Amino acid sequence: MSEVPVLEVRGLTLRYGGLSALEGVDLAVAPRALDALIGPNGAGKTSLFNLVSGFARPQAGEIRFCGTRIEGLKPSARAALGLARTFQNLRLFAEMSALETVLTGMHARLRASPLAILARGPRFRREERAALEEARALLDFVGLSGVELRRAGELSYGERRRLEIARALASRPKLLLLDEPAAGMNPAETAALGRLLGEIRARGIALLLVEHDMSLVMRLCEKVAVLNFGRRIFEGSPEAARREPCVLEAYLGVGEAAPARAAP
Ligand SMILES: Nc1ncnc2c1ncn2[C@@H]1O[C@H](COP(=O)(O)OP(=O)(O)OP(=O)(O)O)[C@@H](O)[C@H]1O
Ligand SMILES: [Mg+2]
Repeated sequence: MSEVPVLEVRGLTLRYGGLSALEGVDLAVAPRALDALIGPNGAGKTSLFNLVSGFARPQAGEIRFCGTRIEGLKPSARAALGLARTFQNLRLFAEMSALETVLTGMHARLRASPLAILARGPRFRREERAALEEARALLDFVGLSGVELRRAGELSYGERRRLEIARALASRPKLLLLDEPAAGMNPAETAALGRLLGEIRARGIALLLVEHDMSLVMRLCEKVAVLNFGRRIFEGSPEAARREPCVLEAYLGVGEAAPARAAP
């Protein structure tokens, strides 16, 4: 790979007492890639996202974002560099409108608060007007144009997952980490999500997707890394992953069917 990876981790290790959540994990995401990170429950997928986004500190290992070491940076500083994530358990403020929620995703770039922008007070300037337009465009992009003034808590589960993605995109990331975006979605919502992820990639944003829905991974991704008990046991195409004995064993025991949709 001649291009500098947007994300590169080496030897990443995170232990909780005697338990290795991650042990010496290497992983790279190329610019404009749409890669998947899979593995059984408790394999360490969310832990890896927490380390990369700065919500936890590794005991060992290196994390490079577009070639720069970032282990010492706070989550906000990593976000400012162009790293965004969503959460396995949604983290939205129920009382905030969809529009306000997306505006909060821009806060690192803006001087006025989301409330000042919505109130259109004396501090409402060209910058804030542009932010409001951009937030509306993002809601439209994720398929939520009709609900901008609804409270996040009133939205359906699938809509809230899309709202989290819109908020993450508001920071104008180079890399988006998505932790089980299809969890709790019905098949139609999952199909629409798959299209949305393709469109995000088409905007030049790299994606790393943690997902239990293997049919979605097969459809979208060229490369998949598999974690099991904190170790990377496989990296390659999703088709090869489904045939790989150590992957089958990790999910179900040797000789059984390929990884299927599992409970989130
Ligand atoms: N804050 C914590 N304290 C102690 N142990 C933790 C903590 N967070 C995670 N773990 C443990 O680390 C391991 C990896 O957890 P992690 O949440 O990264 O798995 P995961 O692959 O995201 O699983 P799932 O598919 O269920 O979301 C698990 O054994 C988990 O119990
Ligand atoms: Mg997880």
